[in-house]
Amino acid sequence: MVQKLKLEKDTIISVKNVNLAFGEVKALCNISLDVFEGEFLGICGPNGSGKSTLLKTMVGLLKPDNGEIEFIKRDHKKFQVAYVQQMREFDRNFPALVKDVVMMGRASHAGLFRRYGPKDHEIVDQVMKLVGVDHLKDKPQGQLSGGQFQKVAIARAMAQEPDVIILDEATSALDYRASAQFMNLLRKLNQEKNITIIAVHHDLSMLKEYATRIICMDRTVEWTGAPEDAKLDETLLRLFFYNSPH
Ligand SMILES: Nc1ncnc2c1ncn2[C@@H]1O[C@H](COP(=O)(O)OP(=O)(O)OP(=O)(O)O)[C@@H](O)[C@H]1O
Ligand SMILES: [Mg+2]
Repeated sequence: MVQKLKLEKDTIISVKNVNLAFGEVKALCNISLDVFEGEFLGICGPNGSGKSTLLKTMVGLLKPDNGEIEFIKRDHKKFQVAYVQQMREFDRNFPALVKDVVMMGRASHAGLFRRYGPKDHEIVDQVMKLVGVDHLKDKPQGQLSGGQFQKVAIARAMAQEPDVIILDEATSALDYRASAQFMNLLRKLNQEKNITIIAVHHDLSMLKEYATRIICMDRTVEWTGAPEDAKLDETLLRLFFYNSPH
């Protein structure tokens, strides 16, 4: 029995019967899904299918009308979820040095009014090296390229020492090479640090290459399975070409 339980995948986030409407617009209709520890979950769906709304609900920025989202952590530590939003120009214009942006990731550990200590600085140095932005640390973030900026966003997320990183179209501003580099970085964090990744991504070929499981959604979960499953293409065709837009 113990053996069997160990073989089963551990759920770390459980979404149950979640509904959310913006006025007349039903963005999420009875969404239920489990996120398993250590997976690289790719989420796809047409424009307006509720992907960003789902992520925002998962990180607590939006409250569902009903249903529940549970975070399951076994060792009583605080559950850390890092959320990387879509790149926005005004974030780049915020006048801060790269090292200070990454330090902001430590805020949830430092607590209110506590100064950053040696451990915080050590972690910031470590993650900047890991992500490959160490050489940029004294640059104002406004001077970075799109790809460098996204890497800094990941370094900031990593400084939180997260269990899960949730990304919304994190490579949309990047060219193919920079996107692939970025996805490789996510894969490395997933495989070497056992960080669970949840990534909404518009590039389906990229998702198929990097995700260990894919969810197709259109306001509700339409399909989930392995990237190599033949049913995936069938579902994508139906969602992207045959369903009427809303
Ligand atoms: N703050 C809001 N107020 C009102 N309606 C909203 C709001 N945010 C999203 N919506 C609506 O909810 C639906 C789902 O939007 P959402 O942004 O989650 O879609 P998405 O799948 O992320 O789309 P995209 O691929 O374009 O990013 C859309 O119809 C959208 O217009
Ligand atoms: Mg979106």
